[in-house]
Amino acid sequence: MSIDLSKLEKLAEGKTKIIYKNPDDVKTVFMVFKDDITAGDGVKHDIIEGKAVVDWQTNRDIFEYLNRQGVKTHYIESPQEKVSLVKKLDRKINLEVVTRRVAAGSILKWGNEEEGKRYDPPITQFHYKDDPLHDPMLDQTYVDYIIKAKSGTEYAKMVQMNEKVLIQLEKAFSRFDIQLIDMKLEYGIIEDDVYVIDEITGGSFRLWPYAHKNPHLNQPNVIKELNPEDRLDKDTYRMGGDLGMVQSKFGEIAKITAQFKNI
Ligand SMILES: Nc1ncnc2c1ncn2[C@@H]1O[C@H](COP(=O)(O)OP(=O)(O)OP(=O)(O)O)[C@@H](O)[C@H]1O
Ligand SMILES: [Mg+2]
Repeated sequence: MSIDLSKLEKLAEGKTKIIYKNPDDVKTVFMVFKDDITAGDGVKHDIIEGKAVVDWQTNRDIFEYLNRQGVKTHYIESPQEKVSLVKKLDRKINLEVVTRRVAAGSILKWGNEEEGKRYDPPITQFHYKDDPLHDPMLDQTYVDYIIKAKSGTEYAKMVQMNEKVLIQLEKAFSRFDIQLIDMKLEYGIIEDDVYVIDEITGGSFRLWPYAHKNPHLNQPNVIKELNPEDRLDKDTYRMGGDLGMVQSKFGEIAKITAQFKNI
């Protein structure tokens, strides 16, 4: 099957993806990846040729893995390069849900958190998706208010699902001697239930390789067990790495997630 995107109606276009109507099924939409990369709430922006294909592959392999683990996601299949078929959202929840296993990035600024501190159980934070406001963190009552929760269980479901995804992905990456540091997901309502939506790609998490074989990861701070300088994720771009380097790191992630089908 070949899908001619030029004949489809565009429903939405964001920074990294375009959503098209599926003429054959009102309950699904096509999600098409773009070569754009952004950081700093959209202030930093570049185009990396080939990034769309690599993101599409990573996204496909991660979502297929999560679907096999029984996580409720919008993902159905990837019928053609750069194109995924997903369940259409009934309602978007305008949140980024972050779960952290190891302290890195913005959490270091919020107190006396030392880089490499390990959180067990992992910790989860909710951020309001709004670039001009810099995605402020929200508390549960405000999250419930935003969702206009009918059943009142959406918040708890998102916490539980985010933790489950972190743990499943942490397990998968550990097979390749890589630690999942933290991760952000987005959610929406489909047929009155909470689903993981959007994309999971190199910009969705931090990934640091193990510093040596058999690292001792069950201790209060794991920084000496890991090698942040060899990070595979979008921090390479945020920190000003050249675009070729960014693309090669994203390619490394795609090679790893391609092997998730065997685990
Ligand atoms: N299952 C889905 N059904 C319909 N729309 C979806 C689905 N999953 C994601 N989208 C939408 O796809 C659009 C494009 O995504 P993209 O990530 O490029 O946007 P963005 O510029 O990053 O904006 P956002 O901050 O909303 O993510 C977004 O509006 C997102 O809500
Ligand atoms: Mg987005």
